[in-house]
Amino acid sequence: MSNQTWNPTDYSRHASFVVDMAADMVDLLAPRAGERILDLGCGDGALTVKLLPHGCTVVAVDSSPDQVGAACARGLDAHVVDGERLAFNDEFDAVLSNAALHWMKRPAAVIDGVWQALRPGGRFVAEMGGAGNVATVLDAVGTLLAARGIDAAAWSPWYFPTPEAYRELLESRGFVVDSMVLFPRPTPQAGDVVHWLRLFAQSFAAPLPAAEREDFYAELAVRLAPKLCNEEGRWILDYVRLRFTAHRPA
Ligand code: BEZ
Repeated sequence: MSNQTWNPTDYSRHASFVVDMAADMVDLLAPRAGERILDLGCGDGALTVKLLPHGCTVVAVDSSPDQVGAACARGLDAHVVDGERLAFNDEFDAVLSNAALHWMKRPAAVIDGVWQALRPGGRFVAEMGGAGNVATVLDAVGTLLAARGIDAAAWSPWYFPTPEAYRELLESRGFVVDSMVLFPRPTPQAGDVVHWLRLFAQSFAAPLPAAEREDFYAELAVRLAPKLCNEEGRWILDYVRLRFTAHRPA
């Protein structure tokens, strides 16, 4: 577990792109009426609610109590659950996960929990950050923290695997991988990159005294601007996504 916290108001104000850019995940999942579906890492439930019109039953889980509160406020059946400690048994037709698996640094434990949660024949459909995701940000964070004598890797809350590594983990648990693709997905921001840094990269600021964290984000923004801010002043982050579908054999 990382020291990451989520503020649902800030999340919906500065990270609505997370769901807007993943709307086609629902098509990939192809939920059918009567199916029981687990949304793993549901956040504030903005994507989860898109499953309901398909006539399925959805259980949503997330490790953030504040995000689960926001999901419950949308009328969802949402629960605070650590994704590395799922405890469901043969009860879901599908597990969906968007923009959550890269926050879980013990992937074998996650995959095992998903396997147990699925009925035989059940599918696992997910998108996460993949190898190379926000490499420019990671590079700048590494440089700025190293200058303060801090090893950025020790504070990273993220796990961005290669397709080969994640496939190996899935297959070694018994999943059949039906598709696996790593693709760049430049991700425009509605406002200043500092909002994104405060929301997503706060773990890297944790070793700094609280009074120095805003300066750290500002310094990062200055370093990132030549690579990630275009001539119109629009920030476009260098996201790389790993998207896969797999199933537990019947
Ligand atoms: C995400 O949640 O989508 C994300 C997290 C960290 C870096 C990039 C993306």
